[in-house]
Amino acid sequence: MITIRPGDSGDITAVLGLFDRAVEWLVARGQIGQWGDEPWTGNPQREGLVERLAASGGLRVAMLDGAAVGAVNLGSAPGYVSPATVSELYIEALVTDRRHKGAGIGTALLERAREEGVAQGVTQLRVDCWAGADGELVRYYESQGFVRDAEFVVADHPRGPWHGQVLVQPLQ
Ligand SMILES: CC(C)(COP(=O)(O)OP(=O)(O)OC[C@H]1O[C@@H](n2cnc3c(N)ncnc32)[C@H](O)[C@@H]1OP(=O)(O)O)[C@@H](O)C(=O)NCCC(=O)NCCS
Repeated sequence: MITIRPGDSGDITAVLGLFDRAVEWLVARGQIGQWGDEPWTGNPQREGLVERLAASGGLRVAMLDGAAVGAVNLGSAPGYVSPATVSELYIEALVTDRRHKGAGIGTALLERAREEGVAQGVTQLRVDCWAGADGELVRYYESQGFVRDAEFVVADHPRGPWHGQVLVQPLQ
């Protein structure tokens, strides 16, 4: 059974490993536009992000048979999207173990986000994702109850303009 628990600095290595496998999977699909083609482990910027999330109090880790098989951070909006106009919980760095694709781990983590958002009494959940690959990731979030909000472009991205989509899910 998948369970979800708060994460902390003891999860950094495992979470970086989830991102490493996700990048391998993306590369095999020809999708280097999302996160490039290098592992997150050993990349100071990526490691810094995961360390920041692990220290934020918002990291949640999905466990299956004693192993970390997914992660998400629940917090506030990053600087590259427009600030919220209502109270919200912002979903960042959702990733699941590619060896368990189709097991519903992402769904369980997003359900946890909804539960925490409702418990906190916030008005909405927001998330952003890469809009490339014909919008397949955008459609995944739509299948999870989100609707499209703003589009954005990170113009100074190292691999050229990075097109993103913000999605929102009202909670009340
Ligand atoms: C997105 C994610 C967390 C969803 O996890 P999940 O709910 O357990 O669902 P699955 O892994 O079974 O994927 C669901 C569908 O989304 C598709 N999908 C997942 N990530 C995708 C991506 N980055 N780009 C395009 N399609 C993607 C999968 O191929 C799958 O499609 P299918 O149902 O046609 O096989 C997980 O697929 C993942 O870690 N993806 C790679 C990392 C990523 O892109 N994270 C999102 C950051 S915004």
